[in-house]
Amino acid sequence: MAEQKIVLSGMRPTGKLHLGNFHGALKNWVALQDKYNCYFFVADLHSLTTAYQHTENLAQNSEDMLIDWLTAGLNPQKCTIFIQSDVPQVSELNTLLGMITPLGWLLRNPTYKEQIQELLKQKYAGQLDEKTLGEKVASIAADDEISCFGFLGYPVLMATDILIQQASYVPVGKDQTAHLEIARDLTRRFAEIYGEQVFTEPQPLYTTVARVPGLDGRKMSKSYNNSIFLGEDLDSVRKKVMTMFTDPNKKGKNDPANPEGCVVYAFHQIYNPNAAKRCEECKAGALGCVACKKELFALMEPELSAFNERRKTFENDKAQLAQIIASGKEKARANAAATLTKVKKVMRIIK
Ligand code: TRP
Repeated sequence: MAEQKIVLSGMRPTGKLHLGNFHGALKNWVALQDKYNCYFFVADLHSLTTAYQHTENLAQNSEDMLIDWLTAGLNPQKCTIFIQSDVPQVSELNTLLGMITPLGWLLRNPTYKEQIQELLKQKYAGQLDEKTLGEKVASIAADDEISCFGFLGYPVLMATDILIQQASYVPVGKDQTAHLEIARDLTRRFAEIYGEQVFTEPQPLYTTVARVPGLDGRKMSKSYNNSIFLGEDLDSVRKKVMTMFTDPNKKGKNDPANPEGCVVYAFHQIYNPNAAKRCEECKAGALGCVACKKELFALMEPELSAFNERRKTFENDKAQLAQIIASGKEKARANAAATLTKVKKVMRIIK
């Protein structure tokens, strides 16, 4: 290992991973495991902050996500893979950090407000007009279903994940910047209050990753119903590719078009080594969108079908999976316990 610094990141187990998660995050993690001492975990407790009523599939989703990670190439010989709730020290430190986190930091967090908006939109889709929805967002404290202690405390739990493992770097998307800032602020606040620094101040690790739009051109997201999933049946993927959004100004198949904003072109940039040539062909009107889509699918198929095949080997070996989860748990617990003991000493909870 070239560097011993700790990298840590997690994902909420919201169900099947889509190609946005795959190209936007997972492939990056796979590359990082060769360069750092990496910890990757399933943030199952975090999924309770918004979906606490829907826990029917929680344990299964955690397992499915782990299988996707292994299939994508995360290697338990190279990195530590674990499930958040397998490390009870996280919940303990979360309590302690909660004691020193000013409410204002959490209430002002822009991600909190955006998420509330998103959740309310989903909840009242089609039932409320914009204005009433706006009023609801403003009076969020009145919505018992969404406005929970754990949801407001999301960034404290995330800070706990990071600080308890002493991570130096946290690979995350730009949407997590505000959360990470709270983690950084908490390290300083802890040191100011208790006179000793026990935490490593984490830095975000932004990498230039592929932009993966959803089928309709918006961000790929499960809740937008515009995703292609890992492990998805290839016939279904083929059909989805044929529905991808393209330049609406192109009417005939030999009209010139603008590849910017075209979903098919965005995918060619990921799967087609000759994407630059395709860009020119598109602008020149050299081919129609149907042909372009067919070609895209042909390029995606080998990678996706290899993934599906490889996934089966992990799916069918429950003993191996259990062993990976158990050894990740042990390593993550040991590392977390060391930090927690220091924290409790510095806070004078123990001698
Ligand atoms: N909030 C992250 C997300 O939604 C998931 C997460 C939880 C995380 N804890 C973390 C990411 C700690 C990095 C580090 O994507």
